[in-house]
Amino acid sequence: MIKGKVITLGVPGGIAVYKVADLASKLTGLGATVNTIMTGSATEFVKPVTFQVLTKNPVHTDLFSSSAEHKIPHIELAASADLFLIAPATANIIGKIAAGIGDDLLSTSVLAANCPVLICPAMNVKMYSNPIVQANISKLKEYDFHFVEPEQGLVACGDYGKGRLSDSSTIIYAIEQLLGQAKDMSGLRVLITAGGTREAIDPVRYISNRSSGKMGYALAQAVNSRGGQAILISTPTCLEIPLGVEGIIVESAMEMRDAVLKHYPHCQIIIKAAAVADYRCESVFSEKLKKDGESLTLKLIKNPDILAELGCSKREDQTLVGFAAETQFLDQNAKKKLISKKLDLLVANDVSIPGSGFGSDSNRVKLFYSDGMVEELPLLSKLIVANKIIDAVKNIRSKR
Ligand code: C5P
Repeated sequence: MIKGKVITLGVPGGIAVYKVADLASKLTGLGATVNTIMTGSATEFVKPVTFQVLTKNPVHTDLFSSSAEHKIPHIELAASADLFLIAPATANIIGKIAAGIGDDLLSTSVLAANCPVLICPAMNVKMYSNPIVQANISKLKEYDFHFVEPEQGLVACGDYGKGRLSDSSTIIYAIEQLLGQAKDMSGLRVLITAGGTREAIDPVRYISNRSSGKMGYALAQAVNSRGGQAILISTPTCLEIPLGVEGIIVESAMEMRDAVLKHYPHCQIIIKAAAVADYRCESVFSEKLKKDGESLTLKLIKNPDILAELGCSKREDQTLVGFAAETQFLDQNAKKKLISKKLDLLVANDVSIPGSGFGSDSNRVKLFYSDGMVEELPLLSKLIVANKIIDAVKNIRSKR
């Protein structure tokens, strides 16, 4: 999909420019023609020759330069592109585009663009959360500019939060989407569960786990962008239900079970990414507990295993995918669950590895197939992992 496409890459001046050099190299490697525009401040971080060598193309920096092939550079660079990519998008370029300002080659070229524009912000955490920057982003979204949100993490200045440039694989995936994602899931209804269930103790407190829901939401987004109908049964998380996805919010394992059983018969693919509590309180206190005693004993009773239940009543046309988050004996536990829950695929991850599993934007998983095959994936963004899981499901279904 990227092969043969022309990408105009606008590079503003942020510390993440060095990461964009890698992105430019990968896009070139995938067969795109990458025409780079650097702002003056971008050239303070990385010299144009870096992009020139990596993309095998001249780099443009000057609004007033004219060459034989680019008589009016900003018009040419905009008109020739299948996609206009801006990374690392600074608060400045976002503000300029939102205000319609064209005062250098990059900003004027964006104004002249007639193709999808994909903006990948990267900046200090406080700058990114600044309401003016956020208002500019909202405005640009209304005008159909596309965004790859920055990731959570440590930014160059030492602050922790949202602001790190998203990794190359996520940006490449977003480019593929914009350049025409295959709608290979159309006609399929996919039930996905996400998040950690909440088991009430009293009206105020609950027992839960560290699941953020990110993997399940990424799956729903991937299904949706590949043309499938995703039904996302999620516990409350800080994530937004992706556009086009039917979202159902539940709290406890019992509520999740009810919702899953209701939708299960109407779905062909079921992916249980939720971390369902194995136990719940035998009785929930009707009033808020007071700290009167020196100790408190809660009696927990077993929750039903929803996935195992689904496995028992699985139809021929249904494909069942489970998840296993383990801290030890990953392979043994995964294989055991695959068989005992009658799954077609089990996605296992060792949550003790940094950058993998709960709360993280990336994941390193192993796929266990019911025919005994095991596929180990490298550390990837959760959206890419989601697409790999869907590829695996499609593969399983095509062999039937
Ligand atoms: O056995 P374990 O809980 O580790 O299995 C994890 C898989 O089973 C996940 O896919 C999870 O969503 C599902 N599960 C379930 N109901 C439970 C516990 C887990 O559906 N009560």
